[in-house]
Amino acid sequence: MKVTIIGSGNVGATCASILAQKDIVDEIILLDSKEKLSEGKSLDISQMTPITRSNTKVWGFHCDFSKSRNSEIIIITCGITRKANMSRDDLVQCNMNIIASVTKKSQHLSPNAKFIVVSNPLDIMTYICYINAKISRFRIIGMAGILDCARYKYFLSKKLNVSSYDIQSLFLGSHGDTMVPLYRYTSISGIPITEFISEIENDILINKTKKGGEEIINYIGNSAWMAPSISIVEIIEAIIKDSKRIFPCSILLKGEYNIHNICLGVPVVIGKSGIDRIIELKLNEKEKYLLKQSEKQIQKIIYRLRT
Ligand code: 2OP
Repeated sequence: MKVTIIGSGNVGATCASILAQKDIVDEIILLDSKEKLSEGKSLDISQMTPITRSNTKVWGFHCDFSKSRNSEIIIITCGITRKANMSRDDLVQCNMNIIASVTKKSQHLSPNAKFIVVSNPLDIMTYICYINAKISRFRIIGMAGILDCARYKYFLSKKLNVSSYDIQSLFLGSHGDTMVPLYRYTSISGIPITEFISEIENDILINKTKKGGEEIINYIGNSAWMAPSISIVEIIEAIIKDSKRIFPCSILLKGEYNIHNICLGVPVVIGKSGIDRIIELKLNEKEKYLLKQSEKQIQKIIYRLRT
């Protein structure tokens, strides 16, 4: 199994490091447009492997896409990241050209690859990857919902003083201010969340989750990478093991949830071919309304790009 990571910055390199430690792939290729960055990072990660007892080989190259040939999974983490006072949507113009270009370059070298998109704004970049790759939508996976859920679980576990490991939660919609929390589908070891906190109390945690990325930027001046990286590895592992795990991921919707032709986060089953299937939930009126707001926000940006 060969995995290529495009972008050797914080997210790309940390993802490579976690993946190498797990010893579940044969080879990781790191690519970056910044000279010597991938070479240095891949060497550092490779020198961990005698200690982690991993046989994964990690190679780094400057812009040489030919090295990605025949990858089974391609992860797109490149582009500019958010700084203080920037929204994810501020990155659209710059990142769309980068994502379109790396998608085209890598897709024809690895025609059977599954793509995992991580660059922001996530749902827009997943769409850009989809239209440039020209492959089945089930092989283009936008990673955000796992990260949003992890942040929420962390905040909830702190509030209730329970293990975050026992919390089940689900978010739909975009990776941004219009993400849609599904309060009804949140439980702790099977016990409905309603037994622990009210919806109003929960909304405070949801707002913290929406601002989760921003809070970190405000501390360190740069976008988060630890939690995003391990979230990517969750998807890679589910593909490799064909484990049919259910995650909220961004995918091009063709009528599911009554949404057409944009990418948005919904629960999907992940297996060896990428997204196995989309799970359609019966939403209540409030959830439908919130998902509509998310759809409108993404639709507006896509519309601007198309005209
Ligand atoms: C975040 O929310 C990187 O978008 C990512 O931290």
